[in-house]
Amino acid sequence: MRRPIGIFDSGVGGISLLKAFRRILPAVNLLYYADSGHCPYGGKPREAITERAIAITDFMLAREAKMVVVACNTATIAAVETLRESYPLPFVGMEPAVKPAVATSRSGIVGVLATGAALAGDKFHKLLAQHAGGVRIITQPCPGLVECVERGDLSGEEPRALVQRYTAPLIAQGADVLVLGCTHYPFLRPLIADVVGPKITLIDTGEAVARQVQRVLEREGLLEKLDAAGTIE
Ligand code: DGL
Repeated sequence: MRRPIGIFDSGVGGISLLKAFRRILPAVNLLYYADSGHCPYGGKPREAITERAIAITDFMLAREAKMVVVACNTATIAAVETLRESYPLPFVGMEPAVKPAVATSRSGIVGVLATGAALAGDKFHKLLAQHAGGVRIITQPCPGLVECVERGDLSGEEPRALVQRYTAPLIAQGADVLVLGCTHYPFLRPLIADVVGPKITLIDTGEAVARQVQRVLEREGLLEKLDAAGTIE
């Protein structure tokens, strides 16, 4: 039996990673858990998010997952360290793509769009201290966007008004790169690109996470070398 990789998010956001997973890890079985009953995580305290991450990891273990991917910036920042301390399993998490954004910016000003809980986390502040260098990072919590994505509204009036409201101050301050620091936001990429225009670069972490999963699977001797395509459940 091919043991799956467990992947979870507060809802459908982590599905934005699956294309990259399929391309980079075609033979791996993927088990996706959308915690829709508790979405959004972005306004919840750290303890509540950690409790969900533990409950979902227990579910993944019962399904014999060989690794867990926290396909959620908010849950990674809140809980991945606790998960790593508590389970004998490899975990791959994700954080807003500050490092590549800093390398890309020419204006020296980067905007980070993410949830309030992600932007408030210690782990996020450490990330900034490590990678911002001389670049000015402006953070912007985006309440309401996750809810739009959850109900499949990717281009209507409400998400457009929210995207306008959240991105305008960043661009007015000179940001030329915006980090999509929540796995729900890549579903809004066409709308965000339309609102901010072609001079602004948008960055997310889907590819990078799939590559990191591949490296960890190889390191742990857990990567199948099979031809048969993996399943997605
Ligand atoms: N998709 C999640 C993230 O990457 C969070 C969404 C939520 O607020 O639940 O941060």
